[in-house]
Amino acid sequence: MVNPQDYIQEAPWAKVDMPRNEFRQFMQKNNLYGILNTLLWIISLFGTGYLAYLSLDSYWVIPAFFLYGVMYCACDARWHESSHGTVFKTPWMNTALCFIATAMQQRDIIFTNWSHVRHHSYTIINDIDPEITVTRPPTFWEHFLNFFSLGESKYYIPVLVKHAFGIVSEDARKFVPEEEYNRMFWWARASLLLNLIPIIVAGLTQSWLPLLFVGPLPKMYGNIIQRSFVLAQHAGLDEDVWDHRKNSRTILVNPFFGFLFMNMQYHVEHHMYPLMPFHQLPRFHRRVQDQMPKPYKGMIEVYREMIPALIKQSKDTTYFIDRKVPGAEEPQKVVRIKEMEASSAMIPMAAKGAETVMANQTTSAVPEELEWHAVTSVKDLASNDVINVKIEGTDYAIVHTDKGEYYSVSGICTHEHAYMADGVVESCTISCPKHNSKFDLKTGNALNRPAKKALKTYPVKVEDGQVLIGLAAETIKS
Ligand code: FES
Repeated sequence: MVNPQDYIQEAPWAKVDMPRNEFRQFMQKNNLYGILNTLLWIISLFGTGYLAYLSLDSYWVIPAFFLYGVMYCACDARWHESSHGTVFKTPWMNTALCFIATAMQQRDIIFTNWSHVRHHSYTIINDIDPEITVTRPPTFWEHFLNFFSLGESKYYIPVLVKHAFGIVSEDARKFVPEEEYNRMFWWARASLLLNLIPIIVAGLTQSWLPLLFVGPLPKMYGNIIQRSFVLAQHAGLDEDVWDHRKNSRTILVNPFFGFLFMNMQYHVEHHMYPLMPFHQLPRFHRRVQDQMPKPYKGMIEVYREMIPALIKQSKDTTYFIDRKVPGAEEPQKVVRIKEMEASSAMIPMAAKGAETVMANQTTSAVPEELEWHAVTSVKDLASNDVINVKIEGTDYAIVHTDKGEYYSVSGICTHEHAYMADGVVESCTISCPKHNSKFDLKTGNALNRPAKKALKTYPVKVEDGQVLIGLAAETIKS
């Protein structure tokens, strides 16, 4: 079992400069956009599916099924966004969409989501990120096959079957924590069951048609656009660098592609702020574009740059496209502590220290032993707002809820390195900006995975318009 932090020195990812209150506006979720987008997708899916059915005895059958396949493969973007919890405000709606969209790709949500958690924590960091689409030197044949989902299906279907039969796949051991195995098996069974339905119907009706509409086949004949886009997100760019502006691309595309990709064309912005709702990304992109590398003007511009770069990388693996970030210092490169053995099986950091810390220290602390530190003025902390303060080298998140209560919790998430002050405050909870774990502000307890360990809580009081945090003397010295 391997912890990535045993191999690399953890460092914070680069952020943009923006007033806190303005940033909070961009993090506001809303069910409406998610519902409209999902309804439009379902209508498109059934509409193009019906056209494909009508075209069966004509030459139109090829374009009609291609169009249906393109709509079907848009499930990839739906899985992706709902796994981040950024489609809907209501969590169960994200889970429902995530399940359907992963099952449509013959995957289970636990395995897929944990893989993606690792991808976001260690984007394009070699040996650690399980979702590097193009490793160096590139293997062109593999990428060609994946335009028709052939490599993906060969990989994901056996993984799904294994998990459904209670066998942990080799890769799951690398990034899915053991205590998640049971849930992974059950979600895999549900996904497999859903995928068996068209096979059973095909058998009963003695017709291939159900298989043409649901399962691996539509992924094969309709994947080319979605796959071209996935390739364009990171391929040929820098690696082992703590700045998403150097290893990801934002590509301006037409509204149709924007709908298919669910705004993931704003990929730099998405990677920097993975909890930002999908519908906020275009506006956020416009707001911060002066701090970003120039966006690409379309997929053709990306491929014109990317293909020669990949050819160069096949001869020189040190080559990469160096994206210029206006006004930014040279990004921090990943510092390796030691080389990772090929056989190393990683587990996420969340699997460490499984014990839950019941951290309601607000009430247990003895007032006389506390040192009170003024951290901010009440007028600088809006409703549902949070700031980070550093005291003696330690980070604390100071929170003001919409009920007028003040809280303080540890400034760094207990799962991986993420500043809680970049998270979202609502209903006496704070969500981590990196993987969306929610913490109870009163107790610090983690309410959902991947984080399991509670945040520490600290007493807070307001005096003379100042917010003060109480820290035990030994906390400050240690
Ligand atoms: S860093 Fe993963 S939930 Fe916070």
